[in-house]
Amino acid sequence: MARSAKSSVVVVGSSNTDMILRLARIPGPGETLLGGQFATAAGGKGANQAVAARRAGGRVALVARLGRDSMGDEALAGFRREGVDVSRVVRDRSRPSGVALIFVGADGENSIGVAGGANQRLTPGDVAAARTTIARSRVLLLQLETPLASVAAAARIARKSKVTVILNPAPAQALPRALLRNVSLLTPNEHEASLLTGVRVTGAASAAKAARILISRGVSTVIVTLGAQGALVATRAGSRLVPGFSVRAVDSTAAGDVFNGALAVSLAEGAALHDAVRFAHAAAAISVTRPGAQPSIPTRREIDRLLRK
Ligand code: RIB
Repeated sequence: MARSAKSSVVVVGSSNTDMILRLARIPGPGETLLGGQFATAAGGKGANQAVAARRAGGRVALVARLGRDSMGDEALAGFRREGVDVSRVVRDRSRPSGVALIFVGADGENSIGVAGGANQRLTPGDVAAARTTIARSRVLLLQLETPLASVAAAARIARKSKVTVILNPAPAQALPRALLRNVSLLTPNEHEASLLTGVRVTGAASAAKAARILISRGVSTVIVTLGAQGALVATRAGSRLVPGFSVRAVDSTAAGDVFNGALAVSLAEGAALHDAVRFAHAAAAISVTRPGAQPSIPTRREIDRLLRK
């Protein structure tokens, strides 16, 4: 069967309902801050990346677990509205849907706690059931809000079928070399790159050092996202900073997810690596100018408009 008739991007990952409190600043331990504004929005790193890839123009399938509850119903309805293939989304009888509690300060920075719920029950069996979908895609997109065994199973299937594997190591945790060897592109932010390598990443030079360590562990390409500075793109051949776009940030929630979803689509379309990173920067830049995770994700038309400027 022709690849073009199938999903260009498959996302294996989490879905959450985000409970968001916007405050003047993020409260410290033991502190109570008044004056916040509350909102709920669709979130979860996997779901955000799937929706970002879809709005960026990809044909997208999501492999995930939702609870049998109203939050799961809403999430599923949202994916269907977006046109995401949900035939591999499982409803879990024993756990509730994932929930994230998010503080956002006036500077747009955030602090997030997650109750994974059904996301924590995504099994290698769920992933194996999606084997054909993964094997026929162009890009598999993974994060770390679901069990590592499922992430590793998906990467193995994709690698065997020569599908490009992007792993966004968020939230960061130690990664086995066997998994890293199946990863084509690893996309940590500064914080995650620091945790994965022990190098304190604070800019392009230290990002290049961390990237070299990750490449020595078996990853082909490392993209360290550096917020407003852009991203350090490293391969065995060397590294280069691809600058980002300067925008006024109101909420950085899901900026990394939008970057990864758009990157996956651009690579699936056959773009060169640096062009795909620039496309992903444009998508992420738009998202930080708007509040919320999935509500902030731009369409292809919006991304193309910013790139033309
Ligand atoms: O990356 C942002 C996401 O992290 C939020 O949507 C929240 O659900 C957490 O998973």
